[in-house]
Amino acid sequence: MDGIGFANSVRLRSPHCLAPRNAQANGVSASVSRHATPQTRPANTALTRSSEEPHIAMRHINVPRNSNADPESFEAIKPSRRKFLQSTVAAVTVSAAPLVHAQQPATTSAPPPSSSPGTAAPLMPVKLTINGHAYEMQLEARTTLLDALREYASLTGTKKGCDRGQCGACTVIANGRRINSCLTLAVMHEGESIVTVEGLANTQTLSLSPIQKAFIDHDAFQCGFCTPGQLCSATALIDEFRAGDASAVTADVRLRPPQLSDDEIRERMSGNICRCGAYPNIVAAVKTVALVKA
Ligand code: FES
Ligand code: FES
Repeated sequence: MDGIGFANSVRLRSPHCLAPRNAQANGVSASVSRHATPQTRPANTALTRSSEEPHIAMRHINVPRNSNADPESFEAIKPSRRKFLQSTVAAVTVSAAPLVHAQQPATTSAPPPSSSPGTAAPLMPVKLTINGHAYEMQLEARTTLLDALREYASLTGTKKGCDRGQCGACTVIANGRRINSCLTLAVMHEGESIVTVEGLANTQTLSLSPIQKAFIDHDAFQCGFCTPGQLCSATALIDEFRAGDASAVTADVRLRPPQLSDDEIRERMSGNICRCGAYPNIVAAVKTVALVKA
């Protein structure tokens, strides 16, 4: 006998299986018999799984086997939906009643809310020169330079992307060096000169800066959200290259980088993420400007 045959023969001999098979009297066996195998099958015959499974599953109903009660008596003891809902509502009402009484005094005796918050941080005067204009702002010490530019100086060209130094959308130039303005506090730049994307163009001649023109010529942006940071970063990058700064991919950092290769540009712009994937065109735009003699 194989494993399945043995298992089925054991099931057939168990009391759970045998009782309904030879019972004619009670209502359960009558209702189960629609799905049952023929009664003439010998008790020790090994059955296939497909014919026996529904039969066995029905026999797990917990019913008194020697009961002569008719099927209607089972209907009478089954909990109705209405009774269930009634008992549930009653239980919830009884358990919630003490809480309702307990909260009433607390509600009437609660002190009125304070009208003054009392939690505002003290303000500090911060002086910045932004795009050539003097600004004096009253800021909390915790205000980032990015928020000072956008929320207090109303220069919203600088974008807040990740707000944690990962995307470069907030790049500005502080005293000639590019920084992530979301990672630094405004009070730390007291008296410094800040250049944002609004300050790149020549406001006297109303002309775009070379890198701004190159971005347009090379189609170096799509949605434009990263572009203010890319422009500030590229502007400072070219100045850094012309000043002889090395990068991580410069072959010999003791020597002035001979040229601004594509690898140099990619490395130096690696802190500025573009979700639109305009990188090849950004590299081309930066290279075009860098090749022009200053
Ligand atoms: S917003 Fe500053 S690095 Fe992303
Ligand atoms: S142009 Fe869309 S994220 Fe750079």
